[in-house]
Amino acid sequence: MIQKQCVTVLLLLSIVLTVTAQTFALPWGVALTSKRLQETNFTTALSTYRVRSLTPENEMKMGVLQPQKGTFDFSGADAIIEYAKAHDMGVRGHTLVWHKNIPSWVTDETWTKAQLTDILDNHIETVVGHMGNDVYAWDVVNEALDDTTAHARRPSIWQETIGDEYIVHAFTKAHQVNPTIPLYYNDYGIIGKNGKSDAVYTMVKSLLNQGVPITGIGFQSHLSLNSHPTAESMQQNMQRFVDLGLEVSVTELDVAIGTSPATAEQLAQQEQIYRDVISACMSTGACAGITTWGLTDKYTWLTDYLGHTEAPLPLTTTYEPKPAYQAIKDMLLVTYPADTPASHPTTDPRPHSRVCTY
Ligand code: G3I
Repeated sequence: MIQKQCVTVLLLLSIVLTVTAQTFALPWGVALTSKRLQETNFTTALSTYRVRSLTPENEMKMGVLQPQKGTFDFSGADAIIEYAKAHDMGVRGHTLVWHKNIPSWVTDETWTKAQLTDILDNHIETVVGHMGNDVYAWDVVNEALDDTTAHARRPSIWQETIGDEYIVHAFTKAHQVNPTIPLYYNDYGIIGKNGKSDAVYTMVKSLLNQGVPITGIGFQSHLSLNSHPTAESMQQNMQRFVDLGLEVSVTELDVAIGTSPATAEQLAQQEQIYRDVISACMSTGACAGITTWGLTDKYTWLTDYLGHTEAPLPLTTTYEPKPAYQAIKDMLLVTYPADTPASHPTTDPRPHSRVCTY
């Protein structure tokens, strides 16, 4: 209720105040690697299309950050943070604990539970401590459930060596290091109501009942024209997490077309799916942002993964806006006055969370 009132206040403010500047009411974020920041076409598009949040696609993962035991390389992550600071953007932290991108010095050895817990603690302490409030949220645990019908815990090194409690441990440690930062559980295949999102719901509800400091759910949303939940399913599903007192974010949105080149009809279908996803998140009143897993069809993990273009993103390979961008623009762009104070959404990557009390 409080969240919905806050959204209403924000919307009224945007209507009443003088019209002199435009920005997004909720941040549109994109995933990227730091080397893109050397490309003028890319950075011009970030500015032209008013991207307000950046997620390091790989450079905050353990394998990149701690390639050798106790030796940290923050160069890529720091470059993204510095760029964001200089351009009035926020940065989402992705990700502290995952079954992929673990450095070989971890996977090549056999550890006791106590030893691996120490490794996890040290990694979280060092990384969360280094980033401080330069990131506005952390994906603490990523993809902990598997894709069997039971959606049991995925058999990662963390799960097999530390056991179920590794998730509690990771959130608790991150909270100890930075008690103010929102901490997320992030996963794919959970934006609609289905067996996997039911399993995440049950797990997170149990974590909350144990007092685990989890504040948000990241719905990755790697969708395709042939595989996407209905608008109603997405809305109802996100709402039930908000009803637990959590905030929600769309963290890795892309919508694969399936064939190349895309037809106008396919691009229109893609736009509609973007609209449905954004609408589902916003309708909860506790949506902290919409991040797409890339900016331009020129650079998408799907091309590397599938070997052909899927045109899943809001801009074409030549940085032209697609119908999917129109969905982002129509739904997120609002107008604020140029002399807006610093606490206003123009400089705040997470307006709802900062303006409203959860
Ligand atoms: O940078 C090295 C390069 O030096 C080397 O020559 C090359 C050879 O394989 O690998 C390069 O690293 C690759 C990296 O992407 C950068 O391109 C890794 O092999 C490759 O595994 C890595 O893939 C990333 C994947 O996560 C695994 O970390 C994708 O870019 C990234 O888009 C993807 O992102 C994930 C999210 O984190 C979680 N949700 C799903 C999403 C898509 O899979």
